[in-house]
Amino acid sequence: MPDTVTLEVQRYRPEEETGPAWQRYEVPFRPEWMVLDALNYIKDHLDGTLSYRWACRMGVCGSCGMLVNGEPVLTCATYLEELPHGSIRVEPLRGFPVIRDLIFDLTDFLNKLKRVSPWLVRKKEQPVADGEYRQTPDQLAEYKQYSMCINCMLCYSACPIYELEPEFIGPAAIALAQRYNHDSRDEGVQARMDVLSQHDGIWACTFVGECSAVCPTNVDPAAAIQRYKLSATLDWVKSTVLPWGKR
Ligand code: FES
Repeated sequence: MPDTVTLEVQRYRPEEETGPAWQRYEVPFRPEWMVLDALNYIKDHLDGTLSYRWACRMGVCGSCGMLVNGEPVLTCATYLEELPHGSIRVEPLRGFPVIRDLIFDLTDFLNKLKRVSPWLVRKKEQPVADGEYRQTPDQLAEYKQYSMCINCMLCYSACPIYELEPEFIGPAAIALAQRYNHDSRDEGVQARMDVLSQHDGIWACTFVGECSAVCPTNVDPAAAIQRYKLSATLDWVKSTVLPWGKR
């Protein structure tokens, strides 16, 4: 086992520099360390100016996503030991504007997420005195997988369509729309369909599947998108072809 490992980290301050540059740091190699531990070592002992996001250190908050050797990963869940020997390259996730070093701007995703109403939509709330909206375990199972999304943006960074067509609403926003569409308490399916059936919605996806391959919580956004395409197609058939389905 080596005593140290070299991290090549992308540095960039857009307001002061014309483009990104690489900076090398040598850190102790410890088999129990994740890439995030190595970054924290740099921050604490070598260079306090290095900027990056993290919070939970346990794969829950979704804030530590970066490209490590070109792959979108959670750095708090990627062991140094699992990476090929030699230097390790760490960059911000692909496809987002850089704010500083490894920190990127999430505004585009947040705007898109808002468009799909990622909350329970009710036409009329039942009185509080009537108690909770109850669900069976089967009803919960219908959407639970999609609710595991931690907004880490690995899926956007892996998606070739998002890179080519920045208007694409994207994997996580669609998976989160499905999280509510399949919730028995929700009544917002049609409103979300009006957004997602546009050109920049589900139809932009060509089912490359990279979003699901990199998802750290097995949300499987690619499957969520294909399921949605089927619902949209059936909806279109019902409303335009079948006479009794016309609205
Ligand atoms: Fe929270 Fe990595 S620090 S997911």
